[in-house]
Amino acid sequence: MARKIAILGGTGAEGSGLAFRLAKAGEHVLIGSRESPRAHQTARVLRERIGGAAQIEGLDNASAAAACDIAVLTVPFSGAAALLKQLKSVWKPGTIVIDTTVPLAATVGGAATRLLGVWQGSAAEQTKELLPPGVSLAAAFQNLGAETLRGDAPVDCDVLVCGDDEKAKQVASELVGLIPGARALNGGKLENARIVESLTALLIGLNMRYKVHGAGIRFTGLPLK
Ligand SMILES: NC(=O)c1ccc[n+]([C@@H]2O[C@H](COP(=O)([O-])OP(=O)(O)OC[C@H]3O[C@@H](n4cnc5c(N)ncnc54)[C@H](OP(=O)(O)O)[C@@H]3O)[C@@H](O)[C@H]2O)c1
Repeated sequence: MARKIAILGGTGAEGSGLAFRLAKAGEHVLIGSRESPRAHQTARVLRERIGGAAQIEGLDNASAAAACDIAVLTVPFSGAAALLKQLKSVWKPGTIVIDTTVPLAATVGGAATRLLGVWQGSAAEQTKELLPPGVSLAAAFQNLGAETLRGDAPVDCDVLVCGDDEKAKQVASELVGLIPGARALNGGKLENARIVESLTALLIGLNMRYKVHGAGIRFTGLPLK
């Protein structure tokens, strides 16, 4: 049976952009929301946009998490811990979670160009603490903006994939590879998500100063295509 990818918070900007790209690449996507009607609506809009045999369903977050093989977490940092606590008993063993969240100060009313201090070191390390044993984690996509994802054009961005579980990193890198133009790079351990998350705040500042919406990151000098 084809794998199912849940996008928790998939009604939002980042989640719907990722859902669009992954469903367009042929993946079976479950949009998750706190309110299933909102998820249905996003799923319907994306299905109409992609057309053909696009496989996108809308569910509440818990149903999407329970039904998926891979879950991409795309809720604001301020809501992530509560959601993960709610889902702790819901996950199937073997589920892979991919965390995109960035602890921007904007999530609690501060500046979008600043990060909050997170006791664990990063949003991803906080997420790790809130997953049960048997559910593995990689952090990715924090530097790939929603505006870039929502278009049809190939993206011009490297995506750093961090984690302590090789299988989760491999799956996250595979999803990156489904987005035309995106290149997955091995970002090392999960603790490096601290660096990656902070780059997002920098990219938001670049977007503001250069009056663009899609500043991204490319690394040079690596023996990779
Ligand atoms: N936007 C970007 O360009 C970008 C880029 C890289 C990473 N990210 C990360 O991706 C995540 C989502 O960003 P976004 O811009 O898409 O945010 P968003 O549109 O504000 O929120 C995404 C979705 O999360 C749900 N949500 C909102 N508050 C919540 C709460 N307190 N608890 C649980 N669910 C909640 C909402 O869905 P329902 O109301 O349907 O439940 C909303 O549609 C953030 O952590 C962000 O740091 C964003």
